[in-house]
Amino acid sequence: MERPILLFVLVHLNNQIVPREQARVDPFDRGFLMGDGVYEGLRAFDGRIVAMDYHVERLRDGLKALSIDYDAERMVPLTDRLLEANGLRDAFVYWQISRGAPGPGKQVRTRVPDGEMTPTVFGFASPACSLKEARTLQGRAAVTVQDPRWKLGQIKSISLLGSVLCAMQADDADADDAIIVNNGLVAEGTASNVAIAIDGPRGTRIVTPSLESTPILAGVTRRLLLEAMPEIENRPVRVEELMSAREVMVTGSLTMVTAITVLNGRPVGDGRPGPIAKRMLDTLLDVIHQEHAARSGA
Ligand SMILES: Cc1ncc(COP(=O)(O)O)c(C=O)c1O
Repeated sequence: MERPILLFVLVHLNNQIVPREQARVDPFDRGFLMGDGVYEGLRAFDGRIVAMDYHVERLRDGLKALSIDYDAERMVPLTDRLLEANGLRDAFVYWQISRGAPGPGKQVRTRVPDGEMTPTVFGFASPACSLKEARTLQGRAAVTVQDPRWKLGQIKSISLLGSVLCAMQADDADADDAIIVNNGLVAEGTASNVAIAIDGPRGTRIVTPSLESTPILAGVTRRLLLEAMPEIENRPVRVEELMSAREVMVTGSLTMVTAITVLNGRPVGDGRPGPIAKRMLDTLLDVIHQEHAARSGA
């Protein structure tokens, strides 16, 4: 899966655009010490963010869950500024808002934050492929791993240790990613949601794990696809359904729609990206095109 690389030169830190080398965070920042913060991962095509309003909504929900007082809407102009400063139009954009560091005379590392803090806001942008290049459907290998993560999967927490361990387990198994399973139910990828195509008496059905079935992130890409393809069933997905699926897909802002062609060392279907994955990718690209066209016309 396409992953951001450190080609960027200018980052955003607390309302300033600075070279990475000059960006300094207080070591007592609760994001650094305790993973006390949330993040967003955005995708820009031709200078425009895909479904920015959904990302703002999710960030707002996350900040509220953590009682961090920061206006999620600020991500919109800050993103434009960051992209412009780096001269990027096709990019991955990362924002992280941590609770901040306790002020002088305050206690550090207390579980309950000691007094008001100014949130630390950090962002970077790194180059990613264009919309045209994104048309190519990719196939990847995955392995199933047991979910070691916490129960609040809807919060896009910067504490990614569980996810890191899952990804390392996949890497050890020579796979590109992990499909995380929880109590016999399919959850998600380490940075993506999952959908499967299964054969039934009434033809092929597409199913994605519901948000209530097991703790997973409400992915923006998943949401766009569910809106554009009402035929996708949104319900608990059993591991046996995953293992016998005709096609397996992962979806995400960077991942777009990627086919999982090898699962636990065995080919999925004929071992090549299939028609459902292609249909989902094409639908997503259409949604992005339409959003761009609507905004250009506005
Ligand atoms: C755990 C997890 N699930 C799903 C997703 C996909 O979310 P989105 O489509 O908003 O990028 C991500 C993205 O980083 C993620 O980390």
